[in-house]
Amino acid sequence: QDSLLAPTPPMGFMTWNYFGDDINEQDIKSMADAMVEEGLVELGYEYIFIDDGWQGGRDKRNNIIPDPEKFPSGIKALAKYLHSKGMKLGIYSDAAQLTCAGYTASLGFEEQDAKTFASWDVDYLKYDYCGAPTDRKTAEKRYSKMADALQNSGRQIVFSVCEWGQREPWLWAKEAGGQLWRTTYDIRDKWSANAPEGTNLHEESIGYGILDILEINAELDEYAGPGGWNDPDMLVVGLHGKSGPSGDQGGHGATNTEYQSQMSLWSLIAAPLMISNDVRNMDEETRRILTNKDIIAIDQDPLGKQGKRVINKDNWQVFVKPLTDGNYAVGILNTSEKKQRFKENLSSLGLDGKYKLLDVWSKKDYRKTDKLNFQVQSHETLVFKLSR
Ligand code: DGJ
Repeated sequence: QDSLLAPTPPMGFMTWNYFGDDINEQDIKSMADAMVEEGLVELGYEYIFIDDGWQGGRDKRNNIIPDPEKFPSGIKALAKYLHSKGMKLGIYSDAAQLTCAGYTASLGFEEQDAKTFASWDVDYLKYDYCGAPTDRKTAEKRYSKMADALQNSGRQIVFSVCEWGQREPWLWAKEAGGQLWRTTYDIRDKWSANAPEGTNLHEESIGYGILDILEINAELDEYAGPGGWNDPDMLVVGLHGKSGPSGDQGGHGATNTEYQSQMSLWSLIAAPLMISNDVRNMDEETRRILTNKDIIAIDQDPLGKQGKRVINKDNWQVFVKPLTDGNYAVGILNTSEKKQRFKENLSSLGLDGKYKLLDVWSKKDYRKTDKLNFQVQSHETLVFKLSR
């Protein structure tokens, strides 16, 4: 079943970065309404993912229940509401007794919880790993257990493995029954942790920015494909340092250029696109960044290739993503603090012959060429669609 479940990277809105565990059905409904009104659902952002904080313990029969104050109408009613708007519902649990934020989790109740989620018409489960043993074997076992339970639940439910890349899930999570797996600890709303050279990026304490997460994912392209995706965590686009856990560890906001870079880079590396800013109060720049159809099409290209980093030197990073019909997307990131001119032949990116170029942000077309020669601002990513 699984390869049918996420043929392209999932897209939607996730509650965590903006709300933390302070969530309720009213906020979620108004967010869904805004997603529809802003045209985001039509563009493919179809999910609302309810992250940690929805749980209200278990009833007498040990069925997991939502917090009655936060979700007085229940999750099934919320799913119905979303489905009526052409959207889908994601929910969250954890492979231990308690979640990261201390709520009821699913260890020992996998079958029962999976059936409950299915009975609520849930479409997606993010399964966290706080409070669980650190070894890989146990992780594989606990994730397989929940994946099997979902498969026996009678409903098709996308399964998101969230053990933060600590046990190389790209090597086993697909086989364990997952359609995507987080590759890092949580993203913060900033460009870079500016960690000193030689820092182990797998250490949580550094507080990842966009660039740090990119660094880890850039090495993992061969593991992604239809039905199994690397998940470099949520888009921080448009958060502007506003509240929520994304503000921890110095995550007090990136610039619009950097947000546009995240959108570009996440699409080039075929990442799930999970909006996490307040869609009900978006500024014009945020809207422009999140709704660029050409960028979304690169992310969602049916070939399902994660772009490869083909240049990584002199403050340049260049990504090449093969697309259907023999086209390519090329992204050029300037990581320096100054603007620079990028001058290369396409052949040095591994591309033979001449291509027409479309700059997907400025929408400028360029005649057939085998050269790239462009000015790129500090922390900007230019993205071109190449076709014959
Ligand atoms: C850790 C995960 O990495 C986050 O995305 C979020 O789900 C929190 N846990 C919730 O407690």
